[in-house]
Formats: sequence, C-alpha cells, structure tokens
Amino acid sequence: MISNALLAICILVSAAVLAEATAAYKPTDLFLINCGSTSDTTDSQSQTWTSDQKQLLTSNLENVSLSSDATYQEDVPQVPYMTARIFPSNVNYSFPVSPGWKYLRLYFYPTRYESGFDAASSFFSVTVNGFTLLKNFSADLTVKASKSKSLIKEFIVPVNNTLNLTFTPSPSSLAFVNGIEIVSMPDRFYSKGGFDNMITNVGSTIDFKIDNTTALETVHRINVGGQMVDEVRDTGMLRRWLPDDDVILSENSGIKPDVPGVKINYTEETPPYVAPEDVYKTYRMMGNVNNPEINLNFNLRWLFKVDAGFLYLVRLHFCETVPDVNGPGQRIFTIFLENQTAMLDMDVIAMSGGSRIPIYLDFSVYVGSESGPRPDLRLDLHPYTDVNPMYYDAILNGVEILKLNGSDGSLAGSQPNPLVSSVQTPNHVKTSIRKGDSHVLVITLAVVGSSIVLAAVLVAVIALLCKKKKKKDFPLHTTRSNPTDSCSPLTAFLCRRFSIFEIKYATNDFDEKLIIGAGGFGSVFGSVYKGRIDGGTTLVAVKRLGISSKQGAKEFKTELEMLSKLRHVHLVSLIGYCYEENEMVLVYEYMPRGTLKDHLYKRNKAVDPPLSWKRRLEICIGAARALQYLHTGAKHPIIHRDIKTTNILLDENYVAKVSDFGLSKVGPTSESQTHVSTVVKGTFGYLDPEYYRRQVLTVKSDVYSFGVVLFEVLCCRLINIENVPQEQSDLIRWVKSNYIGGTLDQIIDPDLAVDITLISLEKFCEIAVRCIQDRGTERPQMNDVVWGLEFTLQLHEAAQKNNEEGTMMDAEDLFSNTDDNCGPVVGEEPKAL
Ligand SMILES: *[C@@H]1O[C@H](CO)[C@@H](O)[C@H](O)[C@H]1NC(C)=O
Ligand SMILES: *[C@@H]1O[C@H](CO)[C@@H](O)[C@H](O)[C@H]1NC(C)=O
Ligand SMILES: *[C@@H]1O[C@H](CO)[C@@H](O)[C@H](O)[C@H]1NC(C)=O
Ligand SMILES: *[C@@H]1O[C@H](CO)[C@@H](O)[C@H](O)[C@H]1NC(C)=O
Ligand SMILES: *[C@@H]1O[C@H](CO)[C@@H](O)[C@H](O)[C@H]1NC(C)=O
Ligand SMILES: *[C@@H]1O[C@H](CO)[C@@H](O)[C@H](O)[C@H]1NC(C)=O
Ligand SMILES: *[C@@H]1O[C@H](CO)[C@@H](O)[C@H](O)[C@H]1NC(C)=O
Ligand SMILES: *[C@@H]1O[C@H](CO)[C@@H](O)[C@H](O)[C@H]1NC(C)=O
Ligand SMILES: *[C@@H]1O[C@H](CO)[C@@H](O)[C@H](O)[C@H]1NC(C)=O
Repeated sequence: MISNALLAICILVSAAVLAEATAAYKPTDLFLINCGSTSDTTDSQSQTWTSDQKQLLTSNLENVSLSSDATYQEDVPQVPYMTARIFPSNVNYSFPVSPGWKYLRLYFYPTRYESGFDAASSFFSVTVNGFTLLKNFSADLTVKASKSKSLIKEFIVPVNNTLNLTFTPSPSSLAFVNGIEIVSMPDRFYSKGGFDNMITNVGSTIDFKIDNTTALETVHRINVGGQMVDEVRDTGMLRRWLPDDDVILSENSGIKPDVPGVKINYTEETPPYVAPEDVYKTYRMMGNVNNPEINLNFNLRWLFKVDAGFLYLVRLHFCETVPDVNGPGQRIFTIFLENQTAMLDMDVIAMSGGSRIPIYLDFSVYVGSESGPRPDLRLDLHPYTDVNPMYYDAILNGVEILKLNGSDGSLAGSQPNPLVSSVQTPNHVKTSIRKGDSHVLVITLAVVGSSIVLAAVLVAVIALLCKKKKKKDFPLHTTRSNPTDSCSPLTAFLCRRFSIFEIKYATNDFDEKLIIGAGGFGSVFGSVYKGRIDGGTTLVAVKRLGISSKQGAKEFKTELEMLSKLRHVHLVSLIGYCYEENEMVLVYEYMPRGTLKDHLYKRNKAVDPPLSWKRRLEICIGAARALQYLHTGAKHPIIHRDIKTTNILLDENYVAKVSDFGLSKVGPTSESQTHVSTVVKGTFGYLDPEYYRRQVLTVKSDVYSFGVVLFEVLCCRLINIENVPQEQSDLIRWVKSNYIGGTLDQIIDPDLAVDITLISLEKFCEIAVRCIQDRGTERPQMNDVVWGLEFTLQLHEAAQKNNEEGTMMDAEDLFSNTDDNCGPVVGEEPKAL
C-alpha cells in the first residue's frame, strides 16, 4: 500500500516536472492565412487557416488579384498549397501585430493553376515595412533546385503594430502566394545572443548587434543526427527542423548514436521553446571510440549553402546525453566557422552544468562575396587535446543559420544553384494525384469556366498595365531606391565589387587605429586603412573618400577606370571597389613597406636602416618603368599628373609600385596632337613649370615630376623647407644652383656617403638634371630615363666590385675627382629592352 502511494506520488511529481519541461511557447500573434481561399480551411494537422480577403488592403479585390486552384496536387498538402492568390500588380497585405520580431513564413507551390497561370513564368519581389525580403524571386527555379515540390520561406522581421507585406511582380510577370503565416516569438529571441546572452563575432572585432532595424531570414534549421521535426512537434513557434543528411560532408560524417528514453532537463537559460527535445536528444559525434587517435586526423564538417555578401547568425545547440560523459574536462573540442576559430575549447558539460542540460551558442560570421555559384558556409568541429580530455571527440545537436539584412535593408540573394543530378520533368507530365471525385469535378469544371473569363480579363489588365509601365520606371521598390542600381556602369570594371558592409568588416568599421595613410583620389582627400578580406586571409589597403562630392566622384571613377585596365608589376594593383551609401572606396593590394616618402623622412632610425644607394636606384628604376609603361605601353599615352614620393609605394621586397591615378589623363590620342589642354592640377613643388604656365599637359610633365623625385631620393630633403636661407628653401632651385657651381656633392643625403659610388652619382645627376629642364622638349623620354638609371645601377655595381679592397668612401673623397669619366668601368651602354 505504502509503496503504491509512493509510486503514485512519484508519478505525480514526474508528471509535474514533465509538464514544466514541455511547457512550450504560446504565441501572442498567430496568423495562418490560406491565400486565394474564400473560407476557413483546416490542414492535415488540424490547424485552421483563414481566408486572406480580410488582410488585403484593397476594396476592389477582383481588379487587383485573382484566386485560383492548382491543377495538380503533387507531393504537397491540400492546405495551404492548393489555392493561390495571383497578382498582376503591387498588392499590400496588412496584419495588426504586437511590437517585436515576428516569424513571417511564405508558402509557395509553383505549378500550373486553373486560371491558366503558370508559376514557371512568375518573378516577383516581396517587401515588409521597408525590408526587401525577396527580389525578382522565382519560386519555380528555387523549387527546381531542391528535392521538394513546394517551399516555405521563413523571415524574422521587426515590426511595430503593423506588418505590411507587399508583393510586386517583375515587369511583364505575375506574383503569387499560397500561404502566409505570422507567429510571434519570445522577447529578443535572436537579438540577445545564446544562452549566455552573447554573440561571438568570428573573424572580426566589428561591433555586432541585432537591433530592431535588423530583419533575418532562416536559411537552415537542422536537427543534427535526427529526423525532421515538423511544425506541430516544435515547441510553440511552428518551426520546422530538417535532418542534416544533406549538409554533412559525407566522408567522415561521424556517427549518430541512439540513446533511447532520454529526458532533456531544460533550464531558465535554455527553456523548452529554444528547441524541442527531439533536437537535443539526437546528435552527431566523431565516433571511433576504440581508436580515438583517428579523430585527430579529420574534422566533423557541415557545409551550408548560403548567399554571398551577407552576415550570418549561427546558432549551435548542444546537449550531452550519454551517461559516460558526465563531468567537465571530458569531451572538449574546437569549433571553426569559415576556417576561423569560433571557440577554442568547447566543453558542453562545463558550460551547461550537467548531463542532459541543453545549451545553445550564437556566433556571427560574414560570408564574403564571390562570383559564381552560391558558396558554402563551413562549420568544422575538431577535438581539442591540449588539456588532455578523456575523449578525443566532438558533438553537435542542432544548427540554425540566419541571414541578416544587408545595409540596404535587403535579404534578397541570387537565384539558387541548379540541382546537378536531378532530371526535371515538367510538373504536368508527372503522374500525380488527381483531386476529388466526380462531385468535385463538376465544381472544378465550373471554376475552370469562370477562370477562363477571369484569365481573359487578366490578360487585358496586364496589357494595359504594361503599356502604362513603359512610360515610367518600374517601381520595383516603392519605399527605397536601390543604391546598387544607380551606379550600374561601374559594374563593367574588371575588378571585384565590395559591399559597404564588407568594407566595414574589413576595416573594423573604419577603425582610426587602422589608418595607414592619408591618401587622395588625386586632389580629393581621403584616408587609407589597413584591412583584411577573404575571412581575414588577405591584407589590403582600403582608400576611403567619405562624403560623395562631384569632384570626388570624378576622380574616383578616373582611378577605377585607369587601374582596372592597367596591369604592371610596378603599378599598385586594384583589387576592387565599393560605391554605395555615399561611400567611394577603392581596395588595393597591401604595400607592407609604405610610401617612399616615409622611408626617406619618417623612418625610425633605430630599427629601420636608411635605404642603400643600390636600393634607391632600384626603386627609381621601378617607378620609371611604371611611367614608361603608362606613357608608351597602352594604346594611348596616359599621363599620371601626380608623381611624387607619397605615390610611390614599396612592397615587402622594396619593389616600387606607382599608385594614385585620380588625376590621370589619357594623353594625346592622335599623332599630330602632342598635348592635351587642361586645368592645372597636381602637387605643388612637383608641378611642371611649363604645364603651369601654359596649361598644356604632355607626358613630359610626368618626367619633370619624376626628376624632382630623383633629387629627393638623392638629397633626402623635402622639396620645400622653411627656416633656411632663402636660396635653399626650394629643393629644385637649390639643386640647380649647386649643379652649376659643381657642389652637388655638398647636399646629398649624408646616409648615402657610406655606399654611393662617384661614377653612379654623376650619371644619376645628369639624368635627374635633364628631367627638370624648364622646357619639356629638352627633357628625356621615360624610355631614356629607364635606360639611364639602369646604366647607373650597372656602373654602381661594377664600381663597388672594383672598390672591394676596402675604401668605404666618404662624401669628401668622392667629390675630389669629379671630372673622372664613367668610360673605363663598363664598356658599353646596356641594350634596349
Ligand atoms: C474594377 O475596375 C473597373 C474599372 O476601373 C471599375 O469600373 C470597377 O468598379 C472595379 N471593380 C471594383 C470591385 O472595384
Ligand atoms: C502598398 O504599400 C506601399 C507602401 O507600403 C505603397 O507605396 C503602395 O502604393 C501600396 N500599394 C497599394 C496597391 O495599395
Ligand atoms: C501599413 O499600411 C497602412 C495602410 O496603408 C499604413 O497606414 C501604415 O502606416 C503602414 N505601416 C507601416 C509600418 O508601414
Ligand atoms: C529576373 O530574373 C530573370 C531570370 O533570372 C531575368 O531574366 C530577368 O531579367 C530578371 N528581371 C529583373 C527585373 O531583374
Ligand atoms: C527600436 O529600439 C529603439 C531603442 O531601443 C526604440 O526607441 C524604438 O521604439 C524601437 N522601434 C521599434 C519599431 O520597436
Ligand atoms: C510604435 O508604435 C507606437 C504606438 O503606435 C508609437 O508610439 C511609437 O512611436 C512607434 N515606434 C516607432 C519606432 O515607430
Ligand atoms: C536538472 O538540472 C538541474 C541543474 O540545472 C539539477 O539541479 C536538477 O536536479 C536536474 N533535474 C533532473 C531531473 O535531472
Ligand atoms: C577554407 O579552407 C578550405 C581548404 O583550404 C578552402 O577550400 C575554403 O575555400 C576555405 N574557406 C574559406 C571561407 O576561407
Ligand atoms: C538592416 O536594414 C536596416 C535598414 O532597413 C539598416 O538600418 C541596418 O543597418 C541593416 N542591418 C545590417 C546588419 O546591415
């Protein structure tokens, strides 16, 4: 008796515990709308779907939309798929809801409809309260890229009292929808982070938060190692969890242990609504229990198809349920997202506090833009052995992957990748369930009859609309203009296009600490940041011109145009650009050694030895070759117009690369023409005096500026300095007067005294002086300059060899025999290239 009573109490207690554990979320807002249906209907799981007429914001329903039944029922439930509402033009639905995020699920069954509408020809856009959810979307193509015949698109949108849903057909197309579902969710369900209220940013320190300006799209919701969990078995939010068989990499896919009868111990941090028990009960692990060392050779890996160029919220669900793993320090593993460490030493029990206690963690990761098919978001797990865990294994129970809207408020991605292996047969050819009995058939026939009339009306309406639309721009977005469309000519350039988000991600939101220079687009000021792209693997220099101005836009375009066409070892390469949200940004290869100017004047003398004479000659030769290429290598000569020591950059190996093409001009395009007239632009001090006087630009203007650079390299002196006797303040005047007086040796960089050779110095000065002649015609071509400098380098190397026996000449000795000629050292001039 007593034992019976005890048993009864036990049952009562466990029932109470169970009731608490399974206490699901009760939605405060719930709409199940069967579009195109005229009355309420019940689906196979006894949920009631209402007609959509109440929610349509229009009084003349027949004129703006059409409801129609699908002709065939193929692998889809009756409700809500077998009826559709079809729109020839913009249509708004409006739902009164409480403030907060809502699940919005759109149901599509792309097939033929009895009105004659064929979903294969339907493209349309969907917006909600300013967010673009779908853009030129084809349900038909999306379904053909999957294994099923219907699809559900799930979004999570922030709303305040009203959820306005707008369908906009693409030009000469119709929009349609079969079902609309709106379900509320617990407060800040995705914005607060995982069970620890944190969202870990993977691969960037950029401030990441999900606030009420963010909409999301669920792209994957996976019950790892388990079965599909459908809407009614979910814990209140009508979510669908799919098995992971399609996303786990088939080799080394680990094992799916079967642990029957496990009860999940939900907690305050992880209440039942986070995920149903079925998700936490099943999991995947690496296995190889008898030979755990094997697990060190591979990763447990999942690949999730996603759209490139978006930020993703990745929610991982964990729960240790096997009795063997019952304490901290036993099973520890590293989590990688997109090849980057998301968490080094994940120990489920240590975090959750015990066996069968579920936890979930949130991460954010950016999937960069790529051309070609949609990329994979990659999740890897690997045992972490540094702390000697008991098991070399890893475990995962569930994954959710949510896409965050881009900076333009859009979630729309590209069309899906076609399914490779499937042979598609048209829907109407396949055997399918013909609906109804003869009784229904009569009704169907009647509907078909009226549908034909409606279809005729529809065609007339469309024809009329198309005529009207041709006159004005098609209003694809009614509330916001798409910044990417306004600059479509830019997309013609042969380089990568970055979104502003990607740029912000690369530069830690334009972190001032990452500024490596103040560069310009020609004369327009901008900052240069050090950044990382491609998941942090590639260093780049990001040049940003913040506020868009007419002048800036022009010089931005010039640089983009020039650099995307030009490729040369001595020109800095352009990787890509971004032109949106009033931001003009260019992305270049990163030059680890900065500008030539910095090496001349700003180096840290303690750690950074001065550039040797040989290195300086090599740098000058590199820059000269770049100019030679610009002047003679392209179809028409290109005049750089802004050659100076800040625009000559050095890579890791001190190879010179010319940058900043903002002021460049295509030179004379015909033989008879020798110059172009233009407003004088450039940098004071480097500016060709002839160009300045006559406003006539020729390639010789670059030669002049290059001559100035040569003297800067030699003298290591700014072109203009104050607080010195007046005749010395201007470098070029000072150089010229010293050249005439034969005292150039007095003014060279003292650091060069250790290794400069007299003979090369003379040759160098000869070239440099010719470059800065007043009259352009007296200046050499860049070809000659290149040869002259190469010759100078040869003279220097030969002279150094001869002097091997020892004299570290100092400048005084050097110039005591200025009259020596170069002849004896090297016999002949080098051959032309
Ligand atoms: C449909 O449009 C026609 C022509 O614009 C109009 O005469 C008719 O009243 C409209 N029907 C409804 C139900 O508003
Ligand atoms: C639908 O709503 C958008 C803005 O929310 C509005 O611009 C448009 O005119 C509406 N269309 C109809 C047919 O009411
Ligand atoms: C939704 O549409 C209604 C009717 O057009 C309008 O009054 C309301 O301001 C809209 N709400 C939002 C959030 O766009
Ligand atoms: C929509 O997509 C289809 C197929 O990709 C394409 O042919 C069509 O031009 C697109 N329309 C718009 C307005 O982008
Ligand atoms: C969004 O959040 C801000 C600040 O928390 C609040 O002032 C605003 O009312 C919220 N907007 C909506 C639509 O909930
Ligand atoms: C949200 O709605 C409330 C009540 O209508 C209003 O007071 C508040 O300003 C709205 N907030 C936003 C951000 O629209
Ligand atoms: C559930 O976990 C808590 C700790 O969070 C523990 O105190 C409790 O005993 C557990 N309940 C069951 C039934 O295991
Ligand atoms: C991760 O590494 C693999 C193998 O090296 C590579 O194929 C893949 O593209 C990388 N993914 C990312 C996002 O860097
Ligand atoms: C999402 O879109 C809104 C504008 O609708 C924007 O303010 C917000 O920054 C976007 N979110 C992200 C992560 O870009």
